[in-house]
Amino acid sequence: MLDLLITHATLPDGRTDMAVAVQDGRIVEVSAGLNATAHDTLDAGGQLLTPPFCDPHFHMDATLSYGLPRVNQSGTLLEGIALWGELKPLLTEEALVERALAYGDWAVAKGLLAIRSHVDTSDPSLLPVRAMLEAKKRMAPYLDVQLVAFPQDGVLRSPGGLDNLKRALDLGVDVVGGIPHFERTMSDGAASVKLLCELAAERGLPVDMHCDESDDPLSRHIETLACETQRLGLQGRVNGSHLTSMHSMDNYYVSKLIPLIAESGVSAVANPLINITLQGRHDTYPKRRGMTRVPELMAAGVTVAFGHDCVMDPWYSLGSGDMLEVAHMGLHVAQMTSQAGMRQCFDAVTVNAAKVMGLASYGMEAGKDASFVLLQARDPIEAIRLRATRLKVWRKGRLLSEMAPATARLSLPGREENPL
Ligand code: FE2
Repeated sequence: MLDLLITHATLPDGRTDMAVAVQDGRIVEVSAGLNATAHDTLDAGGQLLTPPFCDPHFHMDATLSYGLPRVNQSGTLLEGIALWGELKPLLTEEALVERALAYGDWAVAKGLLAIRSHVDTSDPSLLPVRAMLEAKKRMAPYLDVQLVAFPQDGVLRSPGGLDNLKRALDLGVDVVGGIPHFERTMSDGAASVKLLCELAAERGLPVDMHCDESDDPLSRHIETLACETQRLGLQGRVNGSHLTSMHSMDNYYVSKLIPLIAESGVSAVANPLINITLQGRHDTYPKRRGMTRVPELMAAGVTVAFGHDCVMDPWYSLGSGDMLEVAHMGLHVAQMTSQAGMRQCFDAVTVNAAKVMGLASYGMEAGKDASFVLLQARDPIEAIRLRATRLKVWRKGRLLSEMAPATARLSLPGREENPL
């Protein structure tokens, strides 16, 4: 007898009336004509059953700290970095763990079950690193967290930056990070990309770098990242986060750059909510959007995912862990309004994000983890349009969260109920 059988589900690829069978935390069959008995059965009623949302770019050490010790007045990336610097001496391990756990609760309720979080390695105490390792351990039974060693103050620009980053990796941080556009010079930035890729190659680790997060059309670190990826044989293990300078680059140069990125196997993560908020701040009018060239990268075969980046922290005052809100913003900023484009935006917060994170057991097929979300929507486009209610969230066959369907009761004669 099966543990769980879900019937009459719609899948993200458009298949309808599908049954999903679960045994021992894994999907054992996905088919149209499945006839079996199970301890638990659920009729999905034609609603969308999707693999969980994944966030490939987040900062869990800064989340839910909005207003501490003050609010970012200018709204710029650089004031955010300065503000984080003011907050760091006031941090305690307990408070960081508590805020991360609180965010983990939000994430699970939103069907977000895998998060790649950058963690600041700049301080020699490595307090945020130790706190996030503890939070990761405590959330492991219900949330997959990957940690990226992120030298917020610049691995070359800050004293001891490289040593602190290596010590974070020694403690068990999973991925090598970087911030080349924040180093002192363009050549220091390029040098940081080279040495961090070499470090990742030596240790057999993936790379995920904040790269070219600026409006500077001449910021060229993604070119170096793609080149180093090929030189060191790191194809498939490297991600460039943000890449916002590509928005402002010369079109001729980009016509050379995008094929180089595709050839190198480097993936890209845009952070639509944050890019549209932080970029273009030095512009008068017209103001640049600042998000990287998502549809063009996708068309060239580059894996592109969307990240949340920030929730209620020195850089961003809003957010709730809702990756459909992220997809919604990405769709608008990139003008991906075709049917195919809207579905690609759904992929950007599900399957593409899982690919960036290297999640091998992810997907709606036999043999994969029985982790999925039942949405109050009939397809991925409706899910984005409504930022659909997460009716049920399972991880490895275990039900983690339930939410009542969103329904308005109208005080209009003869039209009392309005199913959303
Ligand atoms: Fe970030």
